[in-house]
Amino acid sequence: MIPRNTKLKSKDIQVPGDKSLSHRSVLFAALSKGKSKVTGFLEAEDPLNTMSAFTKLGLIAKKIKAGEYEFESPGKDRLVSPNVELDFGNAGTGIRLSAGLICGLPGVDAVLTGDDSLKKRPMGRIIKPLTAMGASIVGLGEKETAPLKIQGKKLASFRYESPIASAQIKSCLMLAAIASETELEYSESILSRDHTENMFRFLGNKIEYLSPLRFKISPPYFLNGGEFKVPGDISSAAFFLVLGVLAKEGNLLIQNIGLNPARTGILTALKLMGAKIEIENQRIECGEPVGDLRTYPSTLKKANIPEELIPSIIDEIPILSVAGLFAEGGFEIRHAEELRAKESDRIHTMVSNFRSLGIEVEEFPDGYALDGTSKKSNEIWTSLSSGKKVPILSFMDHRIAMSFLILKALSGFALEIDETSWIETSFPGFETLLKDCLYE
Ligand code: S3P
Repeated sequence: MIPRNTKLKSKDIQVPGDKSLSHRSVLFAALSKGKSKVTGFLEAEDPLNTMSAFTKLGLIAKKIKAGEYEFESPGKDRLVSPNVELDFGNAGTGIRLSAGLICGLPGVDAVLTGDDSLKKRPMGRIIKPLTAMGASIVGLGEKETAPLKIQGKKLASFRYESPIASAQIKSCLMLAAIASETELEYSESILSRDHTENMFRFLGNKIEYLSPLRFKISPPYFLNGGEFKVPGDISSAAFFLVLGVLAKEGNLLIQNIGLNPARTGILTALKLMGAKIEIENQRIECGEPVGDLRTYPSTLKKANIPEELIPSIIDEIPILSVAGLFAEGGFEIRHAEELRAKESDRIHTMVSNFRSLGIEVEEFPDGYALDGTSKKSNEIWTSLSSGKKVPILSFMDHRIAMSFLILKALSGFALEIDETSWIETSFPGFETLLKDCLYE
């Protein structure tokens, strides 16, 4: 076992606003005529890039105070073509959702781009269905990747059975249909996060469910602006959940966290592994469940992580795998080939970093398996405890960097993470908050 010596201060902490909801608040504000307001907005590179992109189409964004913005849009019919390329940085959600929206705006032409990591990520998954809706969208990179060149058009009504349980694809097509005042029938095999559906309903629209995983939206759409309240991001809280559960002493109360059932897979998975986490102060805000999460030091064991849980833990698998290093019997994740399409190929990045630590990991096309509590692993942990330096590569991926910083805090190993600046895309202040939870 990795020696568990980390003592935490018992503290109430907050993590920054939900990234998915922050992106969507800008997109719905841009579609809506008149004023919208958002509080709790995640002021990190990814959603700020989405905000900056839409100001180039005519959205006015005024910062009131930290996390609080007032938006004013001329309405979707009066958004204009930007005269510069729209740069979404590292954000797959930013570019894919915005691409859908812009495809549905007749007369608006734009080029959407991003950093080197984003330019490698698959865009065929949105280009194909958008093209079938009548959109003009071309991936200018190799293999249909970004930059994406779009000429907005009136789109046709469309029915799509998504081969991938992806909220980005679902939201991209919904925003295309909404922007274009056209009908969409959409189905997926496992429910992916449904924030777009919730925000759409929160603005006064109806969704017709033909079955639990198949729905239809039909115009006319109501887009009159709203007041969005963004809770803390459970994907960011996940790092502190694992820290709290694996500490030797201390409890964290992580306050005001979005608990949408399509996002709480990390709680289910950690509980299956034996973690004690309690939900307090549950409430509904802006159509989304919210609550506080209290962690207790727990003993973890290997658990079977079912396939149905994968979409709701897709962003948390790196930090869950770190927890798995401490689980009696080890850790295995399968059915997670989507990990290869994230900010980095997270199967490769996790496996290669675990191998740098010296542990044996079996890699599969859709996941990996390891046993951090085997006799051999225990010998490795003993040698790493003596201060041997281990280089860790973050591959331009915020969640890889944060996962290994948590491992470093929990184990005391001399992990040398090559670059941590990516953390700014989703969790400004992560390292300071981590330090605040630990004793000197
Ligand atoms: C997101 C959806 C997920 C997730 C991403 C945010 C969203 O992607 O990985 O970080 O806000 O819709 P997929 O739905 O493509 O898996």
